[in-house]
Amino acid sequence: MTVIVTGGAGFIGSNFIFYMLDKYPDYRIVCLDKLTYAGNLSTLSTVLDRSNFRFEKLDICDREGVYKLFEEESPDIVVNFAAESHVDRSIEDPSVFLNTNIIGTSVLMDACRKYGIIRFHQISTDEVYGDLPIDRPDLFFTEQTPLHTSSPYSASKASADLLVMSYHRTYGLPVTISRCSNNYGPYHFPEKLIPLMIANCLSNKPLPVYGQGLNIRDWLYVEDHCRAVDLIIHKGRVGEVYNVGGHNEMMNIDIVKLICKELNKPESLITFVTDRKGHDMRYAIDPTKIYNELGWRPETSFEQGIKKTINWYLDNRTWWEEIISGDYKNYYDRMYSNR
Ligand code: NAD
Ligand code: DAU
Repeated sequence: MTVIVTGGAGFIGSNFIFYMLDKYPDYRIVCLDKLTYAGNLSTLSTVLDRSNFRFEKLDICDREGVYKLFEEESPDIVVNFAAESHVDRSIEDPSVFLNTNIIGTSVLMDACRKYGIIRFHQISTDEVYGDLPIDRPDLFFTEQTPLHTSSPYSASKASADLLVMSYHRTYGLPVTISRCSNNYGPYHFPEKLIPLMIANCLSNKPLPVYGQGLNIRDWLYVEDHCRAVDLIIHKGRVGEVYNVGGHNEMMNIDIVKLICKELNKPESLITFVTDRKGHDMRYAIDPTKIYNELGWRPETSFEQGIKKTINWYLDNRTWWEEIISGDYKNYYDRMYSNR
């Protein structure tokens, strides 16, 4: 079995590659990644030399390059993690989000049609459903919740989802989609809430909380997401959407206070800053379908997961310090200039 994992030098994609190489030593895993600012090849350094692993620096929008890779590898399964993923950046400049998240997805699916695959899996997000009111804790996103996006990022992800379903209906492409809630864990890029707060705490820098910090996210440890994707690509029904989340709702301000407590830093570091434009209030996933059909449920509680995550950032300072300093961008040249 050959699996192409796009965006595998990013946060969730890299965790998925480690998970798959560990669980399926007989599979060939091919990572296709453009290495944007969010892609870090050093994350994959421990697997780069494995005989059943290949890294290919490539843009998913590059049709010729993508077709060539499919011709060489004849993949059975394609899992598309590659995306511009940060909401704040999409508010600054939507254009790259439209190219990568929409056009890139269509290029990958065209390659799947041309060369034939058994499954194309699209990694989507709970953000395609918009947000829920904070005073209605009884409401959750189900797979039937209408798409109702807020940011250019979520609109681009929802557009891709519509395209994926259209390729299924029109061309019979064997697709699945997963819509997961906020992930956290190792290798999370330090522009996102949890790793940014950990890194700033450790550097005694202000902790910028948007608005009043009352927004709610539904947190899932990244390994639990990887297990869900594994189940969906092997056992999920073609043409179906699966929501992934573990009923782990937390207010932003409570997370930041918890990180301060765990790292023994004063809450006086917390600084309330101007709110994000169009800021979604609350996300909350109903995971009944994936539980009933595939038996998935999260295994890591938030208490365990946040401790593991903080310890990982303490033990891997070089990884995030190189990102903050910009040095990580030289890794590809160091690794590949003499190869
Ligand atoms: P990330 O930003 O950490 O990583 C994205 C990766 O994609 C990077 O390695 C980057 O180099 C690569 N990439 C970007 N544009 C590319 C292109 N044009 N061609 C090839 N590679 C490209 O993102 P993440 O947080 O790991 O998210 C991965 C996927 O999961 C995304 O599709 C995102 O929408 C989705 N998702 C993320 C979360 C979350 O909490 N992080 C939750 C639900 C869904
Ligand atoms: O829900 C899934 C989504 O989760 C994914 O689709 C996105 O790719 C991923 O980036 C994430 O989006 P969010 O916008 O929820 O994550 P972020 O870490 O950017 O922000 C989490 C919350 O914290 C949000 O309410 C904004 C707030 N925040 C964020 C940052 C970076 C702050 O208050 N301060 C900050 O500095």
